[in-house]
Amino acid sequence: MQLDLANKTALVTGGSRGIGLAVVRVLASAGAHVWIIDRDEPEDPQASARFVRGEVSDRASLETAFAQCGPIDIVVANAGIARHAPFTETDDTIWRDVLTTNLTGAFLTVQLAAREMKRRRAGSIVITASTNSYDGEADLTAYNVTKAGLLGLLHTAANELGPFGIRVNAVCPGFIRTRLTADGFANPDIVREYFRQIPLGRGGEPEEIANAVAFLASGMASYITGAALVVDGGQMATKFGTWNESSAQFNIDHWTLKE
Ligand SMILES: NC(=O)c1ccc[n+]([C@@H]2O[C@H](COP(=O)([O-])OP(=O)(O)OC[C@H]3O[C@@H](n4cnc5c(N)ncnc54)[C@H](O)[C@@H]3O)[C@@H](O)[C@H]2O)c1
Repeated sequence: MQLDLANKTALVTGGSRGIGLAVVRVLASAGAHVWIIDRDEPEDPQASARFVRGEVSDRASLETAFAQCGPIDIVVANAGIARHAPFTETDDTIWRDVLTTNLTGAFLTVQLAAREMKRRRAGSIVITASTNSYDGEADLTAYNVTKAGLLGLLHTAANELGPFGIRVNAVCPGFIRTRLTADGFANPDIVREYFRQIPLGRGGEPEEIANAVAFLASGMASYITGAALVVDGGQMATKFGTWNESSAQFNIDHWTLKE
C-alpha cells in the first residue's frame, strides 16, 4: 500500500519551518492540498502550500485562519516553542508563553478541527508531542509539562472522537535538527555526549518525523488511534546509554562501531 493523500486537504500549524515544514512537504508530495497556519511567513516560499497567518494560542485568530482553509481531512497540531530556565528560575512569562503556545494552542487546534470533522464523520489529527512527554529534562519545566499534558489531550480526544470516525494520534520526536535545537546541534561536546544515549548514534532530521506524521495521518494507519509514536533513534529505550570509546568512535555528528 502506498501513501496516497490525493484529494485530501491538510492543515499544519507551525508549518513555516522545522518539523512542520517537513510535514508540509511530505503531505504535499503524497498528493494532499496543504495549508500552513503559522505566526511567521514560510521559510520556503516554494513549499507547495497555502499560508494563512495565525496565532495558535488565540481562539479568534485560529478560527479566522481555519475559516479560510475550508473543510480539512488532516490536521497536524505542531506549533510549539521551548524556553530554557532552571525550575526555580522559571518565571511567569516563561510559564505562560510556553503553556499558551504548546498546550492551549494544541487544544484549540484539535478542538476546531474536531468540530468541523464531526459534521463529516471523518478526519485524522496528529499532535506533535515529544520524548519530553515522558521525561524530566532539566531546565525545561514548562515545556515538559506541556508535552506531558498533550498526552491527556491525545487520549481524551481519541476516546471522544473515535465514534465519529476521527483518529487522533501523536508523534514524540527525540532530538531533531531544527531552529529549536540549533544551539545544541552546533555544540560538538553536547552532540557527542547526547548521541551516546541514542542507539542509532545520531540526531534526527525533520523529514524522519514528517514521515511518521504522514503515516499516522494516512489510511495506512486506519486502525490506529490514541497512539503516541516515539521517533527518537531509540533514545527512550536505553537506561545507561549505548555508545562508549571502548567499542566505538564519534565522527563529527554520529557514533559508529570501530572496525
Ligand atoms: N526539534 C526537536 O528536537 C523537537 C523534539 C520534540 C518535539 N518537538 C516539537 O516539534 C514541534 C515543531 O518544533 P520545531 O523543532 O520544528 O521548531 P521550529 O522553531 O523550527 O518551528 C516551530 C514553528 O512553529 C511556529 N509557531 C511557534 N509558536 C507559534 C504560535 N504561537 N502560533 C503560530 N505559530 C507558532 C513558528 O513560527 C515556527 O514556524 C514543536 O511542537 C516542538 O515542541 C521538536
